[in-house]
Amino acid sequence: MPAAYKIQEHKFDMIVVGAGGAGLRATFGLAQKGLKTACITKVFPTRSHTVAAQGGVAAALGNMGEDDWRYHFFDTVKGSDWLGDQDAIEYMCREAIPAIIELEHQGVPFSRTEDGRIYQRPFGGMTTKFGEGPPAQRTCAAADRTGHAILHTLYQQSLAHDAQFFVEYFALDLIMDADGACRGVLALELETGTLHLFRAQGTVLATGGYGRAYFSATSAHTCTGDGGGMVLRAGLALQDMEFVQFHPTGIYGAGCLITEGVRGEGGILRNANGERFMERYAPSVKDLAPRDMVSRSMTMEIREGRGVGEHKDHILLDLTHLGPEVIHEKLPGIAESARIFANVDVEKQPIPVIPTVHYNMGGIPTNYHGEVVQLRDGNPDAVVPGLYAIGEAACVSVHGANRLGSNSLLDLVVFGRAVANRCAETITPDGAHPTLAGDACDEALSRLDRLRNANGGTPTAVIRDKMQRTMQADAAVFRTGETLGEGVAKIREIHASFADVKVSDRSLIWNSDLVETYELSNLLGQALGTIVSAANRTESRGAHAREDYPERDDVNWLKHTLCWVGEDGGTKIDYRPVHMHTLSGDVDVIPPKKRVY
Ligand code: FUM
Repeated sequence: MPAAYKIQEHKFDMIVVGAGGAGLRATFGLAQKGLKTACITKVFPTRSHTVAAQGGVAAALGNMGEDDWRYHFFDTVKGSDWLGDQDAIEYMCREAIPAIIELEHQGVPFSRTEDGRIYQRPFGGMTTKFGEGPPAQRTCAAADRTGHAILHTLYQQSLAHDAQFFVEYFALDLIMDADGACRGVLALELETGTLHLFRAQGTVLATGGYGRAYFSATSAHTCTGDGGGMVLRAGLALQDMEFVQFHPTGIYGAGCLITEGVRGEGGILRNANGERFMERYAPSVKDLAPRDMVSRSMTMEIREGRGVGEHKDHILLDLTHLGPEVIHEKLPGIAESARIFANVDVEKQPIPVIPTVHYNMGGIPTNYHGEVVQLRDGNPDAVVPGLYAIGEAACVSVHGANRLGSNSLLDLVVFGRAVANRCAETITPDGAHPTLAGDACDEALSRLDRLRNANGGTPTAVIRDKMQRTMQADAAVFRTGETLGEGVAKIREIHASFADVKVSDRSLIWNSDLVETYELSNLLGQALGTIVSAANRTESRGAHAREDYPERDDVNWLKHTLCWVGEDGGTKIDYRPVHMHTLSGDVDVIPPKKRVY
């Protein structure tokens, strides 16, 4: 064991790593159920990336027209291009209703209808009557700052329920025992440089996505997939990494999100001819087609020479016809973003936009209770004792190959709540902690010591930049065997170059150089998993659009990819079946069919 590292030990019933929407919903839910709960977070909770979520959270409340959770279920299965697990999708769409009403009661300041109910706007791919009816108004909104409103409420609830917070603590590694159970995490307190072993009966990873594996992403710089990185280092597989969502409307150049709520309120995408081109690609729902389709359509317009600007390389989002009242009341946040980041007055000018990396459909495989599952001895659903994952870090899988807008905030609150409910049934408050082997932290400490003293020739930022540019170019909206093959070779090389990383700061106190190096290593494993899984999947499904395999192939590919990535860059792929069954007889399985809108 590396000498001279002192570790402070803490014992809790449950620990939650991450304080975004999922982490906070789990934290307060667990505390509310009487479990002694700690939340460990690398940023102050209300600075977590959920704060940036804009357009809203889906739930079939039917406040603004006919709706039913079964319609939401149908839309989500279809949106997922049939890769979503239908039991989990039933759970999410059904539980959406009580989960959102709870949020309202807990104090989320939702926008209101004239008669005082939660305001709901249309969002892409959300329809009624199993796709046969008009678009659903299903997305519950607090103007265009819904994530901000939810995050603050959840943090207040966590404090009200006496959850304990460890703020600006960076989780280094999972502590796994010899039987493969998770016993907690080792974390570094950034301010003091002290090490902390958090022991718990259950560890919930709510660490968000890994959008920063790409050069241009709507994700915060903190979205470095730390949970996924720790899971890979623990020798576990991640699932469906090839499915990366591009949001159609990132601000050109800056990458900041312009909510889909703009199109929900009537905004229109136009090409260089001023044409509303989505009418050609999705005649019935037009600009409110799902994101994978809109991003592909925009890319086609640009490729065919109808992009705008000096380089004809982007598209315009026009909301000038909405009028100041709608903009001030419903979309004040994006008006400000457009002014600051694109120098545009949205009442008079369209916003320059481009598809921008936004969300990872893949992640840590779980069941709908939030328990991490792995393929073990032929069982594709074997639960990893003591380990849970929720939110974007997880792959439940409710989003399958393509997530519908506003199903992300929903996923956070429904599965944050689900894990709390599950643990209330399975974890004994103040229960005994199994004895930990004396060397339980040795591997994590050796790694810390190695990285802290890394004295190679390549600074962290140089490796990160190469990874981000390669992912942007080679694992893009459209993919081919050739670009993916080149991308795999390059990312393997970049991954290997981490052995030559240079960390300049040798201290432990607020060592952002060291933290960024850990974050890079977390990103590198997931970048490699993404591009290897993408090269392997020879079909097109949802966000994974292979030009050399343009059709969906249910015979060979209606299955989840599992990918293991070793620290040495070795990769292995296997599969889990998609759950083509529902939880109850209240809704029928939706068999695969052609996905047209
Ligand atoms: O466009 C948006 O407001 C983003 C929502 C989401 O990703 O669910």
